[in-house]
Amino acid sequence: MAESNTDTKSSNQMWGGRFASGPDAIMEEINASIGFDKKLFAQDIRGSIAHATMLAHQGIISAEDKDKIVHGLNTILSEIESGNFEFSRRLEDIHMNIEARLATLIGPAAGRLHTARSRNDQVALDFRLWVKEELEKTERMLTGLIAAFLDRAEEHAESVMPGFTHLQTAQPVTFGHHCMAYVEMFGRDRSRVRHAIEHLDESPIGAAALAGTGYPIDRHMTAQALGFREPTRNSIDTVSDRDFAIEFLSIAAITGMHLSRLAEEIVIWSTPQFGFVRLSDAFSTGSSIMPQKKNPDAAELVRAKTGRINGSLVALLTIMKGLPLAYSKDMQEDKEQVFDAAESLELAIAAMTGMVRDMTVNTQRMKAAAGSGYSTATDLADWLVREAGLPFRDAHHVTGRAVALAESKGCDLAELPLADLQAIHSAITDKVYNVLTVEASVASRKSFGGTAPSEVRKQIAFWRARN
Ligand code: ARG
Repeated sequence: MAESNTDTKSSNQMWGGRFASGPDAIMEEINASIGFDKKLFAQDIRGSIAHATMLAHQGIISAEDKDKIVHGLNTILSEIESGNFEFSRRLEDIHMNIEARLATLIGPAAGRLHTARSRNDQVALDFRLWVKEELEKTERMLTGLIAAFLDRAEEHAESVMPGFTHLQTAQPVTFGHHCMAYVEMFGRDRSRVRHAIEHLDESPIGAAALAGTGYPIDRHMTAQALGFREPTRNSIDTVSDRDFAIEFLSIAAITGMHLSRLAEEIVIWSTPQFGFVRLSDAFSTGSSIMPQKKNPDAAELVRAKTGRINGSLVALLTIMKGLPLAYSKDMQEDKEQVFDAAESLELAIAAMTGMVRDMTVNTQRMKAAAGSGYSTATDLADWLVREAGLPFRDAHHVTGRAVALAESKGCDLAELPLADLQAIHSAITDKVYNVLTVEASVASRKSFGGTAPSEVRKQIAFWRARN
């Protein structure tokens, strides 16, 4: 899509009636949005077709003019899609580029299209349509990511790994359970996406500049034609509001934060020191100097994209925070933030879905790590409470002594001889060894939402039915 800047000093053909001369080159440069809002061409044309159709239906323009307009707009659509449209910076934005081309194609009838609307409601419409489609795409992509996790969780419902707090070994969990934690997070992100779609599902067109219009338009008709639930209810709010874009960016930031935590775990897990997962060749890179290396670049970039998305959210919040109602040109700066964040988010979800699907899980390494670091100490304390009737605080203390002893001997809890354990507390019997293995530990945690394989399978079934 080419862009031309044929600078003559004549005034703008769309709004230049009261201007004697054209803008300064710098004015033109700061004012133009065509460089980025040409992305909205399809939404702009859809909106204009719906608007023209409604104008004719209401008898505001003739059916003949409407047909010319619709035909012309469809021609422009194929011109842009096939790369045969020349965008001009002098015409500022996508709306005026299309309208000017329409005038060239169909003559004076083109001038009737902008009846009973303004670029203020037009841009609000185009951008809402774009964000709505992007949210729908995000919803589908999150569904794919959740499906990838469900498959891995099912496969590893029994595979034990260390669970961490403070990144210190805490208690054994299953890898399936850990995967399901991400299913919960991305499931919440997806429901935020659905709510956002509901919030923005109102049609702005017909709010006109800010006050509505005196023409007998039918906003319900355009709302329906454009797939919105209903028209917006306040024309001032309609042209002032960019909440829908900010909501998209907040969701992108929260989802990005979740993706970034996962990315960080993958970076840690794929180190030779951890060795819990091995990334596929398709999702890793080599080093140009160190032949042994396999780097988790995709995960690192997902982590970084999140920073970029956060930046977009803060930028748009800051752009909007001091604006009086209704429209101000500041709002033109909304689009690049959203476009950039959308691109980052899509890439990040796609890369993560690929990594999760492709990575090899080293269950042996996970199991060995799960058993180290005295991860079943809580199980010993719980056993003392259950079988020997100790108050939990005392059991905690006794277990602490057992851990200290094992540490001094350089062995695991399960490797301490019974005599040593009984020297710490006489009520301990050899039955205690049944709870000191990692498998017994995870199998015992059957509380709702717990790590026991039986529980994890229940949660997988819950999500399968909803995905
Ligand atoms: N390019 C403008 C934007 O993106 C369109 C709306 C212009 N409205 C106006 N009153 N100048 O915000």
